[in-house]
Amino acid sequence: MKKILAFGASNSKQSINRQLAIFVAHNVAADVGVIDLNDFEMPIYSPEREAAGGVPEAAQKFKALIDSHDGLIISLAEYNGSYTAAFKNILDWASRLEGKLWNNKPMFLLSSSPGARGGATVIGAAATSWPYMGANIVAQFSLPSFHKNFSDKGIVDAELLEAFKVQLEKFKAGIE
Ligand SMILES: Cc1cc2nc3c(=O)[nH]c(=O)nc-3n(C[C@H](O)[C@H](O)[C@H](O)COP(=O)(O)O)c2cc1C
Repeated sequence: MKKILAFGASNSKQSINRQLAIFVAHNVAADVGVIDLNDFEMPIYSPEREAAGGVPEAAQKFKALIDSHDGLIISLAEYNGSYTAAFKNILDWASRLEGKLWNNKPMFLLSSSPGARGGATVIGAAATSWPYMGANIVAQFSLPSFHKNFSDKGIVDAELLEAFKVQLEKFKAGIE
């Protein structure tokens, strides 16, 4: 069975993106590991810290998890039009390790926010720049107005659910 790594790119204990990533994971017949970014907290990246102590173990662990899975489900939280600082710090540290960070693993890239744009800016930034970091984005979906469009049963808006299902099939095909 394929092994999929899923997470919300946020350190919020109530993260809506974590909820969305878990919902997606439940729709994929795979062995899914969900990680919490709080387990990867490190000092803020600086060249001096890297020179003095190398890349922290937490970043090495993060990269090893990517490398040991067959696919990735990542839902991005948007803070001021960009990544959360918690996630960006992991991204920066882990990108200093050998090899391209995302290692060509089929990726379902998502975002959500309580607002009507659903994190469109941050997902756009990732979709543009991550291919240079070895991302193989096979499916992409943003869920706007999370609290209106999502319940414990999943995506409730019929039109959004249909659009999501198209992307879900692309991801399933991508990890085959
Ligand atoms: C500092 C800060 C900045 C934010 N900026 C944005 C933003 O630019 N766009 C947006 O849609 N939501 C923004 N929000 C609202 C977040 O989308 C919301 O907190 C969401 O729950 C974050 O995702 P998470 O629950 O997965 O952590 C911001 C929230 C905070 C705390």
